[in-house]
Amino acid sequence: MELNGKVAIVTGGSSGIGKEIAKQLVMAGSKVYITGRNADKLDKVASEIGAIGVLSDVALQTDVDELIKRVMDDNGRLDVLINNAGFGAGWAEIGDLKMEDMLRVYQTNVFGAAMMGQAAANVFKAQRSGNIVNIGSTASLKGYAKGSIYASSKFALRGLSQCWQADLRPYNVRVMHVNPSEVTTAFGNPTGETRPEVPNKLRPKEIADQIIAQLRMDDRGFVPEVTIWATNPW
Ligand SMILES: NC(=O)c1ccc[n+]([C@@H]2O[C@H](COP(=O)([O-])OP(=O)(O)OC[C@H]3O[C@@H](n4cnc5c(N)ncnc54)[C@H](OP(=O)(O)O)[C@@H]3O)[C@@H](O)[C@H]2O)c1
Repeated sequence: MELNGKVAIVTGGSSGIGKEIAKQLVMAGSKVYITGRNADKLDKVASEIGAIGVLSDVALQTDVDELIKRVMDDNGRLDVLINNAGFGAGWAEIGDLKMEDMLRVYQTNVFGAAMMGQAAANVFKAQRSGNIVNIGSTASLKGYAKGSIYASSKFALRGLSQCWQADLRPYNVRVMHVNPSEVTTAFGNPTGETRPEVPNKLRPKEIADQIIAQLRMDDRGFVPEVTIWATNPW
């Protein structure tokens, strides 16, 4: 797909991986809406990268509906949803899991992504075109100690990706699931600050480069799932 002139939403576009994807989409000529819950961070990043910031929490159905309505009122179409908003919390062994942590993480990583995907899919089905990129994780593929909540949320997202592929291919809609391994971002940092780049770990750039290449592929084909590892992170 040619990205110039297209309309995209990047959830969680105010930081890390989402910010870099949004930046590269803007550079390719797309009109990009980024979302997040922190207004100051969102406004600063939107003006830095040339995107449109919309305060919107993927965990709230009303916010999701208003976001899609705003984009459709402005443009009459949507071409790309990057379902990126997500976080990890409640890291604990099975005996110490807290239901409130599970609900909080699932509300964004699973139910929020599902609400965004549904709203975009309804537009895409009517258009008979569109692209959904779900940002999973290597935690979508393999569980690990103290990862019950986050890894199971990303397994669930991978399940949604596969179901949506089956639902939406007849409407010419491409659903892509992307599994990054560790990327130096603000993810899981108690200070909320973006971690500095280090030479042997992935940057948001590697993830965004891959996604832009997938979106640029001619619409007759798509990459259903891709996993991105750091070559030698140890
Ligand atoms: N970094 C890694 O190592 C890594 C590896 C694999 C996968 N991932 C996945 O990549 C995605 C992006 O993470 P990142 O590393 O870029 O982390 P990040 O730098 O912390 O960025 C997360 C973004 O999501 C937003 N966000 C969080 N909850 C939201 C909600 N309910 N509604 C809307 N926006 C929300 C945050 O803004 P606000 O807080 O202002 O809402 C922020 O813009 C996540 O899905 C994460 O699970 C990360």
